[in-house]
This record gives sequence, C-alpha cells and structure tokens, in this order.
Amino acid sequence: MRDVTDDLVRIMERIAGGEYGSDLFRYSTEEHPEMVRRIAEAMGMMMVKVEAREQRILMDLEELSERHEMFKKAVTTFVLTMSSAIGARDPYTQGHEQRTAGYALRLARRVGLSMEDAQFVYLGAMLHDIGKLGFSDALFSDEDCRDSQELLQTIKAHPEIGSSILHWLDFLGPALDVVRHHHERMDGSGYPQGLVGEDIPYFARIVAVADTFDAITTDRPYQRGKTMREGLATLEAIAGYHLDPVLVAAFQEEVLENGLE
Ligand SMILES: [Fe+2]
Repeated sequence: MRDVTDDLVRIMERIAGGEYGSDLFRYSTEEHPEMVRRIAEAMGMMMVKVEAREQRILMDLEELSERHEMFKKAVTTFVLTMSSAIGARDPYTQGHEQRTAGYALRLARRVGLSMEDAQFVYLGAMLHDIGKLGFSDALFSDEDCRDSQELLQTIKAHPEIGSSILHWLDFLGPALDVVRHHHERMDGSGYPQGLVGEDIPYFARIVAVADTFDAITTDRPYQRGKTMREGLATLEAIAGYHLDPVLVAAFQEEVLENGLE
C-alpha cells in the first residue's frame, strides 16, 4: 500500500508540473482496493478538467492576441488617415508623407535594417508631421507667416504636439521617436530637445534625411523644387552638422543606383 501511495504522490507531482499522462488510470482497475480506485478516478477527473481549462485559456489568449492585432491595425489606419488629412489642408505638402516614407524605407533597408525595423521607420515617416494638425489655417494659407516669430514657434512645436497626440499608442514603438525627433540636428541646433549626434534616435536620423530630401526637391510656396542631383548635393552640403553623414552617403548611393521611384 505504501508503494501505491508513493506512486500516486509522484503522479500528482507530475500533474502539478503540467505533465498530463495516463499513469493514473492503471489504478482505476478492479485489482486495486476501492479507496485507491476512487482516489485515482477523482484525481483523473481533476486532471482532465484542469487540462480542459488550460486549453480554453490558451484559445482565449490566442483570440485576445488576434483582436489586439486587429485593434492595432485599425488604430494605425486611423492615425495614418489623420496624418494624410494634413495634405488636404496644405496642397504644397500633398504626398509629402508618402514620398518621405518611401525614401526612408529604402534608406532603412539600404543600411541593413530588418523589415520589421524598416516598417517602424516607414510608419514614423508617415506620421512625422501629424503635429501639424494642431496648426491654425493661417499657417497653411498665409505665405508671409514664415517671417513671424510667433508662428515660427508654433511650427517648431509640431514634433512635440505630434508625439503627445500619439504617445498612448505604445505599439508604435520607435516610430514615436521619429515623430518627436525628426527635426533634431547632428550639431545640436535642432528641436525640440537639441540632441547631438548619435543621441538622436537612429530611426529619426533616417527620416530626417528623407524628409529634407523631399522638402528640397518639391515645389513649395517659398521655393522651386531642386532636381534630384541638386537635392543630393544639398544633402551632402549639410551632412555632418545637420544630417547624419553616413546616412546621407547611403541615401546618395541608393538614389544614384536605383533612381527616385
Ligand atoms: Fe516636421
């Protein structure tokens, strides 16, 4: 009887450790005393119920994770739509997010980022100017407003406005850094924090190159867009103190090799 008790305890310990074997059922046969059979059957029933509950929890977790993914996609689509609404307010920057995101994605891949990381760069670039949603219509309609100090301060606030709009969407991960830091400069003269060199998040440095290139190669109220080669030369001229020189060189290679599209 002692052997039986020891064996039953060992089986229970294995069940407690998540091993749901069939060892228990050998004690539910006629050759064992009734008390042993009843203990084995009760433990067997308990094991089956616990296992069924575990399965149920796993299925619920799977469903929860699927719903979470769907939620993330829906929210991402929503914020991307909000971001593209800026283009509708400002015809001069129509398509700027998409072009910047396209360049940034290519640069991210060029410097060897994984597809997953490159997607964060892409998302950050798509959303980088979302803080401009907070601008007054005057900023989009009055060409002279760029000279006003007060309006300049408002413009400079857009990275922080953008990151405060998005900050609760923590699944955006490093894309949030892009929104907050895409106007930092290597020499510390950028904003909002005046970060220097490699203190500027890498993904934000990638998007800064793409953003600057698109800004100088498209027509704006205050400039005629430069050609591709002029744009690359301008990037080179400001590499080191404004943009990351290694990223500028990689972007030049990418564009000269594969063109703009
Ligand atoms: Fe910006």
